[in-house]
This record gives sequence, C-alpha cells and structure tokens, in this order.
Amino acid sequence: MKCYLENVKECARFIKEQFGNIPKSAVILGTGLGKLAEDINDKVVLSYEDIPNFPVSTVEGHSGKLILGKLGNSPILAMQGRFHFYEGYDMQTVTFPIRVMHELGIKRLFVSNAAGGMNPNFKIGDLMVINDHINLFPEHPLRGRNIEEHGVRFPDMSDAYNPLLIEKAFKIADEEGIKLQSGVYVGTQGPTFETPAEYRYFRFIGGDAVGMSTVPEVIVARHCGIEVFAISVITDLGVEGVVEKCSHEEVQRAAEEAQPKMTRIMRRLLTLEE
Ligand code: HPA
Repeated sequence: MKCYLENVKECARFIKEQFGNIPKSAVILGTGLGKLAEDINDKVVLSYEDIPNFPVSTVEGHSGKLILGKLGNSPILAMQGRFHFYEGYDMQTVTFPIRVMHELGIKRLFVSNAAGGMNPNFKIGDLMVINDHINLFPEHPLRGRNIEEHGVRFPDMSDAYNPLLIEKAFKIADEEGIKLQSGVYVGTQGPTFETPAEYRYFRFIGGDAVGMSTVPEVIVARHCGIEVFAISVITDLGVEGVVEKCSHEEVQRAAEEAQPKMTRIMRRLLTLEE
C-alpha cells in the first residue's frame, strides 16, 4: 500500500501536469464565497473524482472542483468543496488537499466558513475575521508519525492567522464601507448545532463564533508553513437569551445574503501584490 506522502506527491504531480504553473495563493471556497468562482477567468477545472487520491465530497450544496485561473491579474488556485470531519472522513483525509497545496508550492491560504455567533455584539450576516481558534475536534490532524518534510513535530500556533493579512482585510473593509468583526473561532465536530448550554460554554472559554470546519485545515497549513487568512459569516446566533432554532437552510440563506460583502473583501485581498 502506498503511504500518505506518496499519495500526496502523486496527486500534486498530476495537478501540476494538468495545470502547468501553480500560483502562490489558494482559496477554499467555503460557505459565503461560492460565487467567487464565477469571477475566476481563464479557468482550468478538475473534478475531484478525476484527481488521483483526492477525496470526493458528499455534502449537499458543495460540489467538488479544483479551479486554476486568474482573479483580475492574479493567478489563483481555488477549492470548490471541502471535506468535513462530520462527513466521516478521518483527519488525514480532511486535510489531504492542504498537504497537496504545500507540495504544489502554495504559500498563502484563504478560507471562508459559516459560523454561529456567541459574541453579543454580533448580528446575523456579520463577517468575522478569525484572529485565533480553539480546537475542540476529537481527533488532531497532526496525530501520528510526523512528516518531517512538511513541518516540525510540535508546531507553533501563536500566529496561526496572519496578522498582516488581518490588518489588510480591515483596511479594505474600511475603504469598502463594510463592517468587519474579529474574534476567536471554536472548531467542533458537529453535525449538531449547539445546545444553549454548549453555546454558553464556548463563550465562557473565549469563543466568539463556532463552526464545524477550518481548524483542521489551518493547523495543517501552519504545520507546512503556509500563511492563513480566514473569515466567518455569522449565520445564526448562540447568544444567551437570543438562541433560536437553527437549520442548514437558515445558515445557507444568511450566508447567501452576506456573500457580496465577503466576496468583495476576499477578492481584493487575493489580488493584493505580495
Ligand atoms: N454551530 C456550528 N456550526 C455552524 C453554526 C453553528 O451555530 N452555524 C453555522 N455553522
């Protein structure tokens, strides 16, 4: 049986053959950012199922495609569709695309997601730049033998979310007249939304928003030295006294509404000169 690293390398070789030159920046088009794909020009698209060793996504509303193209004049690699732990994948599979990105030479990763807000200053539809996270997933993506070729055994996480990119995002939001929150993202396995007591607990331990993705990908990206910028769209609230019933459809609707703001910020961030 081939080992994980060989699978990653084989996958990266295939993508390089198909795409040729690989850009320095990649984006995971999570909730709230799907439409950014429409702005990518000179596209070459690969379906996940046609890429050797690449996982295939199962979630409703998440199609699986790797897109190479240009946003304005900036070359970009985009993942449309990601792999969630709650779908049943193990952490090695959830984070496989990030290992492939590293192998391809990607230096910066941009991520979006949907999250429930616990901070009482947040409103549905707000955007929150993630400035830190709390990892509550029950399995760690770096558990097991360390791949020295990718990173150290005990990686630093003191600046997981790149401070310079955060600063630039706030400058862009200011120029665009978009309100931007910032805060700590609590990563949980899902797939249940939180009980009122869980929201209270996540707030108590220092969280501003909670969601079911991003943390594994960010940990692996930082392990391999990739810079990260991540943003959440607040699609529901877990604030004491305002906890309401939450459904996938409501999350999608709120994300859809916030999409133009999210796209404007990400588009400009992605096309900034180095
Ligand atoms: N909890 C967890 N994940 C989420 C939520 C939430 O409230 N909203 C969107 N994704």
